[in-house]
Amino acid sequence: MTTQPLDTAARRALADAVDFWWHSIDLGEGVTTPGRKSADWLKHELAALQLPDLRGKSVLDIGAWDGYYSFAAERLGARRVLALDHYVWSLDRARAEAWHARYAGAGEAAPPIESTDAWQPQALPGKRGFDTARAALGSRVEDRVGDFMAVDAAELGRFDVVLFLGVLYHMENPLAALRKLRTLTGGMAVIETHAVALPAYEHHAFCEFYPNGELDGDVSNWWGPNLAALRALCLAAGFRRVEVKQGPPAKSALQEALRRLHLFASGARQRRPRHYRAIVHAYA
Ligand SMILES: C[S@@+](CC[C@H](N)C(=O)[O-])C[C@H]1O[C@@H](n2cnc3c(N)ncnc32)[C@H](O)[C@@H]1O
Repeated sequence: MTTQPLDTAARRALADAVDFWWHSIDLGEGVTTPGRKSADWLKHELAALQLPDLRGKSVLDIGAWDGYYSFAAERLGARRVLALDHYVWSLDRARAEAWHARYAGAGEAAPPIESTDAWQPQALPGKRGFDTARAALGSRVEDRVGDFMAVDAAELGRFDVVLFLGVLYHMENPLAALRKLRTLTGGMAVIETHAVALPAYEHHAFCEFYPNGELDGDVSNWWGPNLAALRALCLAAGFRRVEVKQGPPAKSALQEALRRLHLFASGARQRRPRHYRAIVHAYA
C-alpha cells in the first residue's frame, strides 16, 4: 500500500492539534509549527553551534523536546539519531506553568514536580510535538523516554556526537551531569548553555545559583556557569579538550565606557553578572 503525501491542509491540521510547540519546525508544504523558539532564532542557533560534519555519524540529542535539532542532524546526514527526553515530555503544560508561577520567587522550595498532577509520564502530553513532527517529516529519528542521568550508559552505548543543548543549567549537579555526558560521548559533545559573565572575574571559575526561579521564573533552572567554570567542569568530567565556540558577547566601546561610568557612580557592589548563551565543543 502506498501512502499519500500530506497536503498543506493536513500538515496544518497536524501542527494545530498540538497545544504547545517549543520548536518552529518546517513540516513542508509551507507549514511551520508555531514554536516559542522562532524559525529565525533556531536558524541562527544552529549556525552558532558549528556542528561537525555529521555524515555517517551517530548522534544523541539529550533534551530533544520537539526534536528540531534531531531532525536537523538527520537532514545533515547522520546515520543514526536518537532523541532522548523525559522531563517536558511528561509534563502537562498548563499545570506545569501554574506550578512555576506558584513557586518562582516565593522564597519557598518547590516540591518535586514529579509529585504533582502536572507529571504524566504515562500519557507523555509534552511529546505530542515530537511525535507529530516526526510523522509529518517521515523521519527515522528514534526516540527514548528517559532521564539521561538514570539511563544505563552501557546499554545505551556511545555516540559520535552528543547534543547537550539547553540542558546543563537544569541539572541539580552539573559536574555529575557532565560526567554522565562524557560516558555517552564517543567523539564530541556540543554543549549550549545559559552562562554568566562578570567582568574582571573571568579567570575565576564560578557558578551563579538560582534557588527560587531567579532565572526566567523557571524553578527548574539551577546554575549559570561562567566560561571558566564551564571549561573546568568539562575537563573535570573527563573531557580531554574544550573549544569555545561562543563566549560572552563583546561590548562596544561606548557600552563599556557607560558601564564604567555607572559603576563609578553607583559603587562596584552593584556589579552584576551578565547573562548570555555559551557554546563549547568538548572532546572525549
Ligand atoms: C531548555 S529545553 C532545551 C530543548 C532543546 N534541546 C533546545 O535547545 O531547544 C531543556 C530540555 O532538556 C530536557 N531535560 C531536562 N532534564 C533532563 C534529563 N535529566 N534527561 C533528559 N532530558 C532532560 C527537558 O525536558 C527539555 O526538553
